Formats: sequence, structure tokens, C-alpha cells
Amino acid sequence: MNIAVFISGRGSNLKALIDAKNRGEFDSNISLIISNKDAKGLMYGYYANIDSFVIKDDDKLLDKLRDYSIDFIVLAGYLKTVPDEIVDNYEGRIINIHPSLLPKYGGKGFYGMNVHQAVFDNKEKESGASVHYVTKEIDGGDIVLQRKVDISDVKSPSEIRDRVLEIEHTILKDAIKKIEEEE
Ligand code: GRF
Repeated sequence: MNIAVFISGRGSNLKALIDAKNRGEFDSNISLIISNKDAKGLMYGYYANIDSFVIKDDDKLLDKLRDYSIDFIVLAGYLKTVPDEIVDNYEGRIINIHPSLLPKYGGKGFYGMNVHQAVFDNKEKESGASVHYVTKEIDGGDIVLQRKVDISDVKSPSEIRDRVLEIEHTILKDAIKKIEEEE
């Protein structure tokens, strides 16, 4: 697959993917990185020599994806809703990483620390990460992979975030591998 990775912030999931690719853990190429703002994570693209662009105007996304012959999109901390035009053109070809065990703590308003705060407030004993296909329903597409982590001893939402982030870094590359094997 010819992958574009979309980010919005720190880019630790992007870095984990680039590292995994360099270790030969999946076959696809990461050919394009897109951010909706001047995100810190863009530096990982520059270091790895992957073309990276800040695209704020949704109308410009499809052309850029076509310029790079992208056939698969990975949302790795992209904090903007993907426009319908992209979802329509890439049906079944977009995945997203979400920091909870979907369908729990998914949907509108459940992003970033909101997720971990809610998990903490509900005294959950386990949390985890999910990779799912992107549809027009927020966090609603089929699950590709899910992995759990024990949080029964945590003292704060940020501890949950740190444990879940470690899981995210393993599950996203594994999801790409799984999809490659199914193709
Ligand atoms: C991750 O927790 C991801 O699940 C969420 O945003 C965070 C992005 O982290 N959607 P990073 O930018 O990959 O470091």
C-alpha cells in the first residue's frame, strides 16, 4: 500500500510507524505526511525524508493524495474530522487510532485527555487502544485491532494516557501488517 499519515500534534504514533517500517515490520511505504497545522510531529517526516505538508484547506487534500498516488490513509492523532469527500473516495481505506477500547469512550467529544479522564472517573480496571476503519460516524467503523492494558493501580488520568500510548505505538503498525496480509 502507498500510505499517507495524517497528524495534528506531537506525532509519536507517526514516529512509531516510521521506526517500524525501518525495521521491516510492514511492507507498505509511507509516502506522504499531512498535518492540518504546523505540528511538532512534522519533524519526523523531515528526518525520514518523507514529503510533508501542512494543509489547512480541506478542498486541497484530495489533489495532494492523488499527486502521491495514495491508496491508504492512516490517521495518527489527526484531530480534525476527515471531509466526506475523502471518506467517499477512500472507502475502507482509512484507519484511525483511538485511545480507548471502542465502542467504550468513543464518539463526539471523546478525544485526547477527555477519554482518559472519563476512564479514570469511572474507575475502569482496564483501558487500551483501538484501530478502526473510518466512516462518516465518529469512531464508528469496524475495529481492525484492539489491545488492552491493566490500569487497576493508576493514580491519575495521565498515567492511563502513558500506558495507552505505549499500546498505540504497537497496535498501529500491527494493524497495517494485518490489513496487508488480508489484501
Ligand atoms: C494519541 O493518543 C491518539 O490516540 C490520539 O491523539 C494522540 C496522538 O498522539 N488520537 P501523537 O501525536 O501520535 O503523539
